[in-house]
Amino acid sequence: MKILAIETSCDETAAAVVAGGRRVLSSVIYSQLEEHRIYGGVVPEIASRRHTEQVVNVTERALVGAGLPLAAVDAVAVTHAPGLIGALLVGVNFAKGLAFAAKKPLIAVHHIRGHVAANFIAHPSLEPPFLCLVVSGGHSHILEVTGYTGYRVIGKTRDDAAGECFDKVARVLGMPYPGGVEIDKAARLGNSDRYKLPRPRVENRPYDFSFSGLKTAAINLVHNAGQKGEAIDQNDLAASFQHAVCDSLCSRFFAAADELGHKKLVCAGGVCANTGLRRMLTEGAAGRGRELYMPPLELCGDNAAMIGAQAFYEYREHGGATLSLNGAATLDIAGQATE
Ligand code: KG4
Ligand code: ZN
Repeated sequence: MKILAIETSCDETAAAVVAGGRRVLSSVIYSQLEEHRIYGGVVPEIASRRHTEQVVNVTERALVGAGLPLAAVDAVAVTHAPGLIGALLVGVNFAKGLAFAAKKPLIAVHHIRGHVAANFIAHPSLEPPFLCLVVSGGHSHILEVTGYTGYRVIGKTRDDAAGECFDKVARVLGMPYPGGVEIDKAARLGNSDRYKLPRPRVENRPYDFSFSGLKTAAINLVHNAGQKGEAIDQNDLAASFQHAVCDSLCSRFFAAADELGHKKLVCAGGVCANTGLRRMLTEGAAGRGRELYMPPLELCGDNAAMIGAQAFYEYREHGGATLSLNGAATLDIAGQATE
């Protein structure tokens, strides 16, 4: 089954054709990053407008790249939630129009389910069940993936997501948006023992995360030093901060894996591109004799191939969506509206 997938939930306009949930025939991403960077973050209205301008072109390129006319694909998939609502609606309406005109099934895909599915592309033999650490700009979760469309939330952030926290601290350090990758670069040159930062815990919820205290501690360190006229070593702070985030994520993830007896560990989402996190996960999994699966860097961030991969399993297990499909800014991974 060949699926044409569209992704417009944030600031990447993306389209891909994926066969059988695992084989990427084409993947095209138009990144709006440069335009949003001058504002220090994604401006929702600009994102929607750019998606509107780019979505046809990006989709045509994906079809040409796969060497297929629209008539030859078996279904059209789209990210319908969660994300920026105006941005999501561009993709949802476009996909509905395509499915309607070409008389193809329409498949709705949850963005975070898509991030998890990036691993099905990268690791053809990977099958659920497994334990997955999802770390993106808007989500930090430990999920028990019980089946291709089955999820149990084991832990989640109580406040900021890991990526959001990277971006906010980077901003205070004067680094451009998105800050995660900038902190990553600076951290490679720094000493992670230099600055002591907290590892907040959530009472009675051993697998939940809390990043706002850590973020505030890092930001206060920068402001206090500024007030005293002292210099902060950017590389050392980036390294100390990154280590604290990775430590918070990995300590809970490995504890949950031990408790629940998972041998297969998976990571997904934009923050999974982080060098320090990949190293800590690799070392931790090897030390415990667990299998570790992570997508290659190009499949960690937002793309449509991961949506096409997940769409295959959504269709196989639940069939298609109706043409009254709507977008939703918030929706938990099990499909429950959170707002
Ligand atoms: O998954 P993603 O592309 O979009 C969302 O669904 O949110 O994740 C974007 C997030 C941003 O916060 C970005 O700063 C972060 O992933 N990120 C990184 C790195 N690359 C991207 N964070 C830390 N280190 C990186 N190398
Ligand atoms: Zn994402």
